[in-house]
Amino acid sequence: MLNSLSEEILRLKKERNAIILAHNYQIPEVQDAADIVGDSYSLSRHAAETDSEVIVFCGVHFMAESAKILSPDKTVLLPVRDAGCPMADMVTASGLRKMKARHPDAAVVCYVNSSAEVKAESDICCTSSNALKVVESLENKQVIFIPDKNLGSYIASKVRGKEIILWEGFCITHKRVKVEEVQKIRQLHPDAKILMHPECEPEVLKLADFIGSTSEIIRYAGEIPEKNIIIGTEEGVLHLLKKRNPDKNFYLLSTGLICANMKKTRLEDVHNALLHMQHQIHVDEAVRIKAMKALERMLEIK
Ligand code: 13P
Ligand code: SF4
Repeated sequence: MLNSLSEEILRLKKERNAIILAHNYQIPEVQDAADIVGDSYSLSRHAAETDSEVIVFCGVHFMAESAKILSPDKTVLLPVRDAGCPMADMVTASGLRKMKARHPDAAVVCYVNSSAEVKAESDICCTSSNALKVVESLENKQVIFIPDKNLGSYIASKVRGKEIILWEGFCITHKRVKVEEVQKIRQLHPDAKILMHPECEPEVLKLADFIGSTSEIIRYAGEIPEKNIIIGTEEGVLHLLKKRNPDKNFYLLSTGLICANMKKTRLEDVHNALLHMQHQIHVDEAVRIKAMKALERMLEIK
């Protein structure tokens, strides 16, 4: 049964010709109100391909901004204005320009968790689901990888014949996972598989059975025969995991795996976004065109 707020959201969505996109870390009520729930990669694909005039992006700022870069003629709304990603704020365009000047032969691979200005200074974007393919697609021997040093060093451990130059950025949420927590939970559930996001630190990732994006973790957990599964990414993924696999047990690797910014968006905010057409994302056109090239180059990689 839909409650009145959900019904109102449905009505406004029709009236505005809107689509609601929600990241896998959003609260259950928001995920359930969305047309599409996914990881950064699938959401940016949907944003690029949708026919809807309005995109309500339930996630953090860089995700809504990427949608606007890819769909400039659409109205893109971020329901909570200050839902940001601290990692995206760890790199600036001027800082990146200085690094490029120190490594003139390097290509710049920019994790989508970054601002439009930073994307505009980059050769190609990536997400956690395609970072390896993106790096391997480049002819350059040297690659500057920004801003996540953990995803960057994970890719560096997989790729051959390239020098990966890391930026000192990280996710404050995934950084909270400690080696001791992994060891403890392994002892508690010795038959369980541990699935982790590559934003965890390298010494933690060494203890994983599977490493992937949020949607890859959700898919893999459904495919494996194990009944007990330990989740090493933000707790929002538990909603789809439990819905799709009622016969399995999921345990969160660390109590620290909660992203405060991803949890800011409530159903009321989604409603207000559609009602008042707030908060609209704007990107400077010259910046947008350059950032779009980096994003489109990523989307061309199969
Ligand atoms: P995904 O691209 O795996 O959904 O991750 C986004 C993110 O912010 C992870 O912290
Ligand atoms: Fe940013 Fe980490 Fe939150 Fe993802 S989980 S949005 S990387 S702070």
